[in-house]
Amino acid sequence: MTKPKILLTRELPPKAMELLNDRVSAELLNSDNVTKESIMEGLKDKQALLCLLTENIDAEILAASAHIKVVANVAVGFNNIDVTKATELKIPVTNTPGVLTETSADLAFALLMASARRITESERYLRDGKWHGWGILQFLGTDVYNSTLGIVGMGRIGKAVARRAQGFNMRVVYWNRTRLAEEEERALGVTYGPLEEVLRRSDFISVHTAYNRETHHFIGAEEFMLMKNTAHIINTARGPIIDENALVEALKNKEIAGAGLDVFEEEPKVHPGLLEMDNVVLLPHIGSATIATRTKMATMAVENLVAALEGKTPPNVVNPVIYD
Ligand code: GLV
Repeated sequence: MTKPKILLTRELPPKAMELLNDRVSAELLNSDNVTKESIMEGLKDKQALLCLLTENIDAEILAASAHIKVVANVAVGFNNIDVTKATELKIPVTNTPGVLTETSADLAFALLMASARRITESERYLRDGKWHGWGILQFLGTDVYNSTLGIVGMGRIGKAVARRAQGFNMRVVYWNRTRLAEEEERALGVTYGPLEEVLRRSDFISVHTAYNRETHHFIGAEEFMLMKNTAHIINTARGPIIDENALVEALKNKEIAGAGLDVFEEEPKVHPGLLEMDNVVLLPHIGSATIATRTKMATMAVENLVAALEGKTPPNVVNPVIYD
């Protein structure tokens, strides 16, 4: 039996590649030429697309590829795909929820610790040969233990961060579009509050909302003004949830003390203002980057893709309305 032809935008971890090649005939785009044009051209004779969050699958690509049976994204977030257009064309879009929760929460906590304790800044100092001995006033940071953590967006990853915070005896306050059930709040040891209150009270604020029209620049100048001057903001969700210009201003004006960022408004560009600052920790979107987790994400995406090609409803479809 001939295998269905699909387009793969970038190479996946080896185990997922094996599974993929076992089930389909995949054309892999040249890594130097993953563009809108190459995706549209590649999809002409394919039945499905397997892509990463770096690919912007817009309405034009989808309209030109209305024959495909699925867009399988290797990410939990799917803001890189025009899901409204895909839904209109009855193309299922899939994501990879659940498998990256703990790994992403680990990284959010690592950024929180790094920002609080000035880890990357002090390492740069040491590597630059500037360290000439222990100093009582050197690199004084902020205590994490016993502090207050504000979680903005209490989904799977937000909750996983809250669980980690318990080990540091942190008070956890949160805002979410919908409040958790009391029982779950109690189990997690978290207190709900309006966003303003969460921002006012917190020593650390960690962002975990999905990115969509409602959360574009959700944290901007007004929100930074509400935060403590000693607060650190951590973002491992999506860059444009924070207004990056407003963040740079808030850091410059010392409205807040620091930031730990794994995501940026226009990746891979980083605001030049951030690059100049010592009190920010900047990472190249590595939230889910462990061997095990990236393998699970890619495998899940392959499973979603294969299910759709077999005419089944993929396990992680984000626009199930198309099956109504
Ligand atoms: C990573 O950012 C993801 O959405 O999976």
